This record gives sequence, structure tokens and C-alpha cells, in this order.
Amino acid sequence: MGSPPEIPRHIAVIMDGNGRWAKERGLPRRDGHRAGAESVREVMEACIELGVEYLTLYAFSSENWSRPASEVEALMGLLDRFLDEKAKDLDKQNVRLLAIGQIDRLPQKTRDKLARITAHTANHTALTLVLALSYGAREEIVAAARSLAEEAIAGKISPAEIDNERFASHLQTAGIPDPDLLVRTSGEMRVSNFLLWQISYAEIVIVKKFWPDFRQTDLFETVEEYKRRHRRFGAL
Ligand code: IPE
Ligand code: IPE
Ligand code: MG
Repeated sequence: MGSPPEIPRHIAVIMDGNGRWAKERGLPRRDGHRAGAESVREVMEACIELGVEYLTLYAFSSENWSRPASEVEALMGLLDRFLDEKAKDLDKQNVRLLAIGQIDRLPQKTRDKLARITAHTANHTALTLVLALSYGAREEIVAAARSLAEEAIAGKISPAEIDNERFASHLQTAGIPDPDLLVRTSGEMRVSNFLLWQISYAEIVIVKKFWPDFRQTDLFETVEEYKRRHRRFGAL
């Protein structure tokens, strides 16, 4: 028996297709990234309305550092702007901000803003918005393995004590429930190094639209699709 359909507690989104959205319009790629910020606002509001507890957005991957410097710079600039503009809204909307990924690779200015907003919103309860920045799931898993190995060498734990639960507690998502629903826009059917451990049993919905065209109604539709799924978790 699967569990009854309900609102996903945690939605994770691979926000893809900004570049193609811009190209279709003869615009520079950065304009696509800028337009994508509006979709973020829409999706956040839709999640609050539905009572979704966690929204994780894949904003920049470990691999995205290999894009041309001008694009990386544009993305970092937009992230800064997003944080400046959103700081007040997040507070007003009672949204808690968290960041996962190799944050130490981000510019200092951006890290300072992130630290300030995450501290300021730490007790907010309407929604937890998790930004995956300079994030790579393999890097996250390797870091967890390394810290467990260090604890074992220091004699704090024995290797036999390492189970799923303990492993997960060493990931950056410790304390956050696994995503129930994984959405990827732009029609691509791949995971691109996102939350590999955490999406073991997520329902996957691929949306054809490019991210800047994604609206609240699209989010509601993915949730309806999710509700029609029969989650089995390996049982019958
Ligand atoms: C997603 O859009 C945003 C980031 C990866 C930062 P893309 O920039 O990947 O756009 P496409 O996939 O090239 O259209
Ligand atoms: C995944 O999109 C990363 C983000 C959305 C931030 P990419 O556009 O980087 O992924 P690939 O290269 O198509 O797999
Ligand atoms: Mg892409």
C-alpha cells in the first residue's frame, strides 16, 4: 500500500532553461537568468499557499563554475541582487533561508549577505527556502564520507555504527526531510549532480517550459501530478 496523496512536504527544483529562453528571444543569456528571478518569487508564494514546508532551488552547480567568466559573474551579480531585494520579503513572509553547497567558493560579499539573512530568518516558520549554491551532490557525499572517516580515526565512532541515518546526518541537508517531489524545467531528463542521496524516492516531474516561463499555476500542476502518483517505497 502506498501512502495517500498529500501535499509534498519538500519540493526540490532544478531551474533549467534560462539560456534557451533568452536565445529564443535574441537576448543575452543573463537576461534569461534575470527573468528567472520572477519565477522564483512565484514558486515561493505558491509553496507558502499550499503549505509546502521546504523548497530547495538549484541555483548554481559545482559544474557551473566552468561556464565563461562573464556568465559566472552575471549569475553572482544576480544572486547578490536577489539577496538584497529578498531580504525584507523573506522576513515579511516568515520564510527561513538556508544555503547548501560549497559556500566558501562564493564571493565574500555574497557569503556575508547569506550569513546575515540566514541568521536573521532562522526562526521563521512559513517555509524553509534552501538555496543550492555552488552545489554538487558528489562533493557533498564525499565530504560526509571524509568527516565520518575522521570521526572513526579519532575513535569517536566505530565504522559499524555508520548507517543510513548517521550518513545523512553528515550531509548538508541534515535535519531536512528528503524531497518528495523533484521538478526539472526545460524538458531535460537528468539530475545533473543534484541531491543524489536525498532524491532516492522522490517523484520526478519534468516540465517542458523554460524556467523563466514557469508560473504559480505550473507549480500547482506539478503538485497535482504528484498527487496522482502512487508512491510505493519498494513495498506493494
Ligand atoms: C539554468 O539555466 C540556470 C543555471 C544553470 C545557472 P541555464 O543557464 O542552464 O539555461 P540553458 O539550460 O542553457 O537553457
Ligand atoms: C543544472 O542545470 C544546474 C542548475 C539548474 C543550477 P545545468 O544546465 O547546469 O545542467 P546540465 O549541464 O544541462 O546537465
Ligand atoms: Mg541548463
